[in-house]
Amino acid sequence: MYSYYIIIISFHTVNCNTNTTDFKLHVAKHLMSLIEKALILPGELLFEEAKKIRDKIFNKKIYLRAIIEFSNVCVNDCAYCGIRRSADVKRYAMKEEEIVKLAQYAEDIGYGTIVLQSGQNSIYDESLCEVIREIKETTSLAVTLSCGEKSFETYKKWKESGADRYLLKQETSNPELFRKLTNRSLEKRFACLKALLDLNYETGSGNIVGLPEQKLEDIAKDIVTFAEWNFDMLGIGPFIPCYGTPLENCRAGDVELTMKVIAISRIVCKDVNIPATTALRTKVGEVSNIFDCGANVVMGNVTPYEYKKLYRIYPGKVCVFYEPESWLENMKELIKSCGLKPSGERGSRKKGRFKPNFKTLEKIVEKLNNLSEDLTSWEKRLEIENITKDCSKLL
Ligand code: 5AD
Repeated sequence: MYSYYIIIISFHTVNCNTNTTDFKLHVAKHLMSLIEKALILPGELLFEEAKKIRDKIFNKKIYLRAIIEFSNVCVNDCAYCGIRRSADVKRYAMKEEEIVKLAQYAEDIGYGTIVLQSGQNSIYDESLCEVIREIKETTSLAVTLSCGEKSFETYKKWKESGADRYLLKQETSNPELFRKLTNRSLEKRFACLKALLDLNYETGSGNIVGLPEQKLEDIAKDIVTFAEWNFDMLGIGPFIPCYGTPLENCRAGDVELTMKVIAISRIVCKDVNIPATTALRTKVGEVSNIFDCGANVVMGNVTPYEYKKLYRIYPGKVCVFYEPESWLENMKELIKSCGLKPSGERGSRKKGRFKPNFKTLEKIVEKLNNLSEDLTSWEKRLEIENITKDCSKLL
């Protein structure tokens, strides 16, 4: 079966006849059912294996990145998001000079990467070029952008100004669910991801786990997509219902399930950068468990309080009340207490030939299946899926 796995990865690039297409579909189905099983089974073995792979590849390092949430102005109206266009929240847009100063400050206190994140708006389409140039000229930071869907031209301008990486999560690979939640097209989102990869950005995707109506099958497809597209970064977090949104009364995504999604992604995609997302840390707390599933990155928020309190994508965000320097010191101690090494390096992904590792996953699933036959039952599956079902009427 192993040689099959390599083939699926060239899915979207290889021109093939119908027979091979059938063959690839068969392989994709096999992978999906493998991942679905892994999602239902107990997590311990997955976590152990994910940590082993992470520690070997990154030599026990956890990369610290700083994030500046520079504007909460957003033209999108995503049902899950607390800064959606129709949310009643005071809007802000930081001045360009302020953003540059904060990035410099982030380097001064020991970070090697700055993430510039905002709602999707066109305020900065031109001016971000200068911001990026200034940061690149005055610091040695890697610059990651996370500003939503843009034209190829805008992505290109930002890249030419010096941006290194871009985060744009697919959120879910179920096109109907994506449409219902965002009122936008998943095809367009993937066209943006393709543009970013073509422009040579280190490109990040990821998903939200436990969205209303999301099936295990959808989550399995997310993971297959992560491998198929060979993304460099994966942001994987639980759904957290936010007041003032249509999904405010829905159940939150399951933490254990989210951690399994991270562990499986680590096992399959090996050397990708995977943060312990703020959403996961919000649900788990800033405790050692956040690194238990194989994450190798953590982001510290350097946005001034007056702004970050308004960047409420979801409630209870762990970072809001901490002051950047003391948070950083505490996080370094926490990392060390897990036997890991905090690192302020840039931590870029080295792109080489990529061969996803489904073999290890298959071995673990086989082992677990032998241990606990009953756990893959339909009842268990439904129990997990029910977690995500109770808001269907709202969508
Ligand atoms: N719960 C969890 N994650 C969310 N995001 C936005 N709203 C929520 C929510 N309610 C995530 C999205 C987005 C990232 C910046 O935050 O995945 O890409």
